[in-house]
This record gives sequence, C-alpha cells and structure tokens, in this order.
Amino acid sequence: MDLSALQETARAMVAPGKGVLAIDESHATCKKRFEALGVECTEDTRREYRELLVAAPGIGQYLGGMILFDETLRQSARDGRKFVDVLKAAGILPGIKVDTGAKDLALHAGEQVTEGLDGLRDRLGEYKALGAAFAKWRAVINISDVLPSEALVMANAHALARYAALCQEAGIVPMVEPEMIMEGSHSVERCYEVTARVLKALFGQLAEQGVALEGTILKVSMVLPGKACPVQVSDEEVAKWTVRVLKENVPANVAGVVFLSGGQSDSQSTLRLNAMHQLGEALPWPLSFSYGRGIQQPALEMWCKERSAFEGAQKVLVHRARMNGLASEGKYTVEAEQGA
Ligand code: 13P
Repeated sequence: MDLSALQETARAMVAPGKGVLAIDESHATCKKRFEALGVECTEDTRREYRELLVAAPGIGQYLGGMILFDETLRQSARDGRKFVDVLKAAGILPGIKVDTGAKDLALHAGEQVTEGLDGLRDRLGEYKALGAAFAKWRAVINISDVLPSEALVMANAHALARYAALCQEAGIVPMVEPEMIMEGSHSVERCYEVTARVLKALFGQLAEQGVALEGTILKVSMVLPGKACPVQVSDEEVAKWTVRVLKENVPANVAGVVFLSGGQSDSQSTLRLNAMHQLGEALPWPLSFSYGRGIQQPALEMWCKERSAFEGAQKVLVHRARMNGLASEGKYTVEAEQGA
C-alpha cells in the first residue's frame, strides 16, 4: 500500500475551503428525483444533467472531489471529453460509488446491510484504470427505541472495513459512510448515542482490517433529532452534538470528516456546517461537506423546469458549492448568500 499517495489524495479532497459533491444516485433514485419534477429518466437525460454538474464553470474552486455512479464514470460531455477528464482539468478528483445497495438483513426486521463485496477487488481495479481516485460505500442505520441491533451495527461496520481495505490495496481512498437515518421520532440524545456506538464499531473494525486512517475519509450524518420528534433543536445545538460525538469517537489521524445532507434543506446543511466551525473548538481533522441534495437541489429544480436553463442552473449550483466552501471554514454569511 502506498500510504503517502493515499494521504495526498485524501487531503486534496478536503483541502481548505473545499468539500465533495455527491452525484452518485442510482438509476432508481435518479428516476424518482427526475420524475417528481416532470423529466423522464433515460441514459441521455442523466448524461445531460450530469454534464451540467461535472462541467459547471468555476466549481473546482470549491470542490476537492465528485462522487460518480458507474454509468457517469464512463460517460462524456457533448464535446467528446470524458467526464473524468473534465473533472481532472478542473482540479476535482473523480470518485465512484461501489456498494450495490442496502438489502434486508436476515432475521432482523426493519434493518438493512449494505452489499457489494463480492468481486469488489476486480471492480476497483477497473475503476482505478478508468480514473477513480476515491470510492464511497454507504451503510444505513435506522433508529428507534430498539434499533439498531448489535447484529446490524457489526455487520455494516465489518463490511465497511472490508471494503476500505480493498480500496487501499487498489490505491483508492475509501470514503466510509455510516448514515443514521433522519426518519423517525427519536430524540437528538438518542441519535448521539447511536452515532457514538456506530462510530466505535466502525473504527474497531477498520483497525482490525489494517486500514490506514491517514488515507481514509469518514462521511457521516449530523446528530439530529428524528424528523417526527416533537422536540427539534437549533442549528447551534446540532453543531454541538455533532462535534461532540466526532471528537469523542473519531481518531485524530483520520484524513477528513465530511457530512451528507440526508434530507436536510440546502440552507440547513450550510448553516449547520458553518455553526460547527463557529463553536471555536480545535478540531483534529478537516470538517467539510459531501452533500448530494444539499448542493444539487436548486439546480436540479431549475433544469427540470426549463431544460434550456442549463447555464443558469450551473450558476445556482456553483453558488451552493461556494456557500458550503465558506461554511467549511466558518465564513458563511447572509451577505454572501444574497450576493448570488
Ligand atoms: P445527500 O447529501 O443527498 O444525503 O447525499 C449524499 C450521499 O452521497 C449519500 O450517500
């Protein structure tokens, strides 16, 4: 394993003022999002929309990486350039989602374990040859009074660690993503408890599999009350709970920590990341974003409404990326937001 190369890649993904944009939606998710806004989901419409994202002028100033889906890694822009090359020219590292989705965990109703380890060594070899510098694997953890079970936490942590080891063997930086799902009526305290448990299991398994944390990025959900919890909390409270759980459970040598947006609005995603940096606490790792919907949503809506508004939608997209770049350093302001 060439640790210094992995470390260099991981650091570039979370360089100061930068984060990651997730555009790795599966065909099924893409179909749901396009059709909700009245656009048919075909290979061609997906390609057109992904070109809008990949080739947005100036977005490289705010992004260290972009996570692609298998299809997108192989697609090209209208001018014939491979998307991977368009990204590299903008200084953005191409990443690839490699898990094959969350499937019901046997004997555990209401819980899913993420699959995709079979044949992964070969797939990573191909992705590396196609230009992928990093990868993503997402585990989903549902929260209730009794969930998650220990079996679910351990199965997902083990799979994440096996995946991460295979990535590092292939010279690809693993992004390990446990997502605590926002659906439910759990309290913020309960989310904190579960997140702590999941992170402990994950870092235990990563150590057991020999994964080098200096060449690993943690992607995680913020600590939030469930959507249906009657007690919602301020952005500052979210920031405090989240920074606390990370400082208590994420080893200092992890290359970087980034967040998913997970169903928060685009403004909440930005404000809460900014609030974490406003706490004035020293953090051992870069703390940034790896949003999908949190960055894409306004641009997606604009493009779906009026497909010819390609360049306008790109501007809206770059604006959201810039706002999150500012938030990743605690420099987000209302003035910057309104100066769109
Ligand atoms: P959202 O930010 O839309 O939750 O997606 C990020 C992601 O990549 C989830 O795996």
